[in-house]
Amino acid sequence: MELNNIISLDKKHYMNTFGDRTPVCFERGEGLYLYATDGKRYADFMGGIAVNALGHSNPVIRKALHDQIDKVLHTSNLYYIENQALLAEKLTKISCADRVFFANSGAEANEGALKLARIYFYKKGEGHKNEVITLKNSFHGRTLATVAATGQEKYQKPYAPLPGPFVHVEPNDIDALYGAVTENICAIMLEVIQGESGVHPLTYAYLSVARKICDEKGILLIFDEVQTGMGRTGEMFGYEHYCIEPDIFTLAKALGGGVPIGAVCAKDFCCAFNPGDHGTTFGGNPLACRAALAVLEVFERDELVENSRKMGEYLVSKIDGLKSNKITQIRGRGLMIGIELNTPVKEINKKLFDKGYLCGSVGNTTLRILPPLTITKADIDGFVSVLKEVLS
Ligand SMILES: Cc1ncc(COP(=O)(O)O)c(C=O)c1O
Repeated sequence: MELNNIISLDKKHYMNTFGDRTPVCFERGEGLYLYATDGKRYADFMGGIAVNALGHSNPVIRKALHDQIDKVLHTSNLYYIENQALLAEKLTKISCADRVFFANSGAEANEGALKLARIYFYKKGEGHKNEVITLKNSFHGRTLATVAATGQEKYQKPYAPLPGPFVHVEPNDIDALYGAVTENICAIMLEVIQGESGVHPLTYAYLSVARKICDEKGILLIFDEVQTGMGRTGEMFGYEHYCIEPDIFTLAKALGGGVPIGAVCAKDFCCAFNPGDHGTTFGGNPLACRAALAVLEVFERDELVENSRKMGEYLVSKIDGLKSNKITQIRGRGLMIGIELNTPVKEINKKLFDKGYLCGSVGNTTLRILPPLTITKADIDGFVSVLKEVLS
């Protein structure tokens, strides 16, 4: 179908939550590249917003999914699911978690984490501990509770009254964090690098104080690793950079390599869910778990976490080397990078798009890039030379 026809169908029938999208529709992908309906090729430096860690159409995922589709797609959680058990085992082996629960998205995983924190205290007879500290400029999802957790008013205003209570504090402000802790707090929830609001890492000092407060007060530390998890930052999980373990963390985005899946991962001591306390129809189904198992297989085989770290360093050094007076700061870790510009980012992004590069933007001045973790030096060189041209 021609792009114009797709756009007019969308405008007529789809709820307009995404506004005027970039005028392109992709019909296939391969590795770093997406191919549009008019045949034009684009290098995907946005990776489906941190989802396509293996790039597009990875042969291992394709084969695994074909195989699974030929066997069984969905059975429900009324029955045991081999892929689910195997994936749970795998995730607990590679992380600080002892148990996992599978959901279908990041928001849903975060909902699960918030419910787990509340029920943990409820079952201890401390049901008054039902408030959660989250950070300003955070992003935790679009369900009512995760919108409430998100420290950005623009997402909350039309939906009052929101579930809660959530207490929002300034990121990296240690005094504010201490000041927010009361008898009613059950958890502190945060992203170790705030992604959606422009790639802002938390400091080691701040995270270690958060851990200390949780230990001293017996409250739970939840890391939302929906975006930072799965090698994005150059470690398998963002918390590894800080050597600070959360009690609960959540995953989604890259976990399924494009197939929707989310995970609540927790230490044994706070796994307070008992039969009937939580559930899902689709979460952890044979297809989604098979996709995630294939993703993890490629991560190991191709040492993608290491590639993320190395290519992230290379990319930052190359952008640094541009010495463009339009770049004022480069933030982030691994392949989660925000480039602060002193020129309108929308124009730069449009020029990059016209030259066949897909990037993202935050606010008026931050260029956001989240390329596949399979990216090579040659791919980066290509991007940086186009960025240089566009900036000059
Ligand atoms: C840190 C973080 N948490 C949660 C979410 C929500 O995930 P989803 O859109 O899969 O519900 C996102 C999405 O951008 C995110 O970046």
